Amino acid sequence: MEYNKIVENIIDSVRPLQGQGKQADYIPALANVNPDQMGICIETIGGAAYTYEKADTRFSIQSISKVFALAMAFSIEGEGLWERMGREPSGTAFNSLVQLEIEQGKPRNPFINAGAIVMTDILCERLKDPEGFFLQFVRNMSGSNTINYNHAVAESEREQGYLNAAIINLLKYHGNIKGDIERVLRFYFLMCSVEMSCRELAHAFLPFADHTKPFDYTDVYLTRSQVKRINAIMQTCGFYDEAGDFSYLVGLPGKSGVGGGIAAVFPSLYSVAVWSPRLNAKGNSVIGMKMLELLTTATQQSIF
Ligand code: DON
Repeated sequence: MEYNKIVENIIDSVRPLQGQGKQADYIPALANVNPDQMGICIETIGGAAYTYEKADTRFSIQSISKVFALAMAFSIEGEGLWERMGREPSGTAFNSLVQLEIEQGKPRNPFINAGAIVMTDILCERLKDPEGFFLQFVRNMSGSNTINYNHAVAESEREQGYLNAAIINLLKYHGNIKGDIERVLRFYFLMCSVEMSCRELAHAFLPFADHTKPFDYTDVYLTRSQVKRINAIMQTCGFYDEAGDFSYLVGLPGKSGVGGGIAAVFPSLYSVAVWSPRLNAKGNSVIGMKMLELLTTATQQSIF
């Protein structure tokens, strides 16, 4: 596949979209990022990486961290994880409270904030040093030992984190948080604050595409069936109330974050990460979504 030619065309096609959408500013520290940047990295199963534009610039991965949290929590709890959350698409915003009240504190899925906060609680309960373990896991998956938390971003989000505070209080009321809510929230915000580049994200997601090697990183072991199931959840729940559109337009399992990043996988072929900070109304990167739509259209390869 001529990824070079394809991606050069994609970049020319999305340039006119620059200026559309708005970067996340509900986390004050994220409002300082120059919004008119983009990057893309494709890594194939063979290990070849194709990088373009700002593929080596690190950005806040935000909700993409929920995939790493799921890998850890699923590896620890196995099928027992589903006693505390569902695996159905929510059709609502990532930080919505509506269903959580109706469904009595059982989050719809691991990728909405409520589900991720329950996973954070599990990691706090089961691990001695969850912050250290999480970071080491992400570093090992990406092959990059300099990846870190951005404490200023985490703190900035904590100061404004009223909705997440409401979510964890509702969860706690219904008995679905075992630990101290302040402690769990602090770790949740820290996970969101991890900074990675498109190249590092694509590399970290490759094991979700590559079923030929065992998934075994820093004591996080997943069976092939579990990896396949994480991909299924990315496909159905990775984009909140835009999961249907992402499936329709791009057709890959993936996960977005309000930092403007999206990581996705084409099982048995490649992983891809894109980044551009301006978001659409659903909180997903305008240019990032378009780059992926054009990629899967131009390659004419489909998982369906
Ligand atoms: O909980 C929050 O609001 C953020 N730290 C993460 C949100 C996010 O990235 C949602 N995804 N698109």
